[in-house]
Amino acid sequence: MTEIREISADQTKLGAAALLELRPRWGTVDALVDFVDTDLRPRGYRLVGVFTEADDSAVSVLGFREAWHSAWGHHLYVDDLITMPAARGHGHADLLMTWAKQEALRLNCEAVHLDSGVGPDRAPAHRLYMRHHLAITAHHFTVSADNH
Ligand SMILES: CC(C)(COP(=O)(O)OP(=O)(O)OC[C@H]1O[C@@H](n2cnc3c(N)ncnc32)[C@H](O)[C@@H]1OP(=O)(O)O)[C@@H](O)C(=O)NCCC(=O)NCCS
Repeated sequence: MTEIREISADQTKLGAAALLELRPRWGTVDALVDFVDTDLRPRGYRLVGVFTEADDSAVSVLGFREAWHSAWGHHLYVDDLITMPAARGHGHADLLMTWAKQEALRLNCEAVHLDSGVGPDRAPAHRLYMRHHLAITAHHFTVSADNH
């Protein structure tokens, strides 16, 4: 049976293997769990995962926050979405996007927002977002803090 459930703070490790696939900069599951629990969760970050009978860990995870922004108002921001490579193509991410939109409604958010890279490795994600009727509305700019 496939189940979607929120991953609580004492269970972050259950989503960390999948998250680390998406965010390898953290190096290890333990370092990533520490960052999520120490820095992200106190600032409102939440994790939801898809679980199957075959595995204790989540095969797909979505990390998000309820957020407020002068341009976008009250919204749900999706930080992370990943399905483990072996579990792709079974509709797991689709379930998570549907869950996120329902959670946005439950929280009385105006909209769901997210950023996504532009390389070919993001093409499946972009197809998913288009299927869920997300529109491309901005360019994302960034610069290193020590760049003068
Ligand atoms: C983008 C990503 C999260 C999608 O995860 P997923 O669980 O495979 O997504 P889905 O299964 O819902 O959809 C994937 C494909 O399977 C198809 N599909 C969905 N359910 C299916 C089913 N039951 N049987 C067969 N195919 C199915 C979808 O139509 C979709 O087809 P497409 O590739 O032609 O668009 C995944 O590819 C991923 O983790 N990519 C790397 C990380 C990433 O880019 N994250 C986004 C950062 S912005």
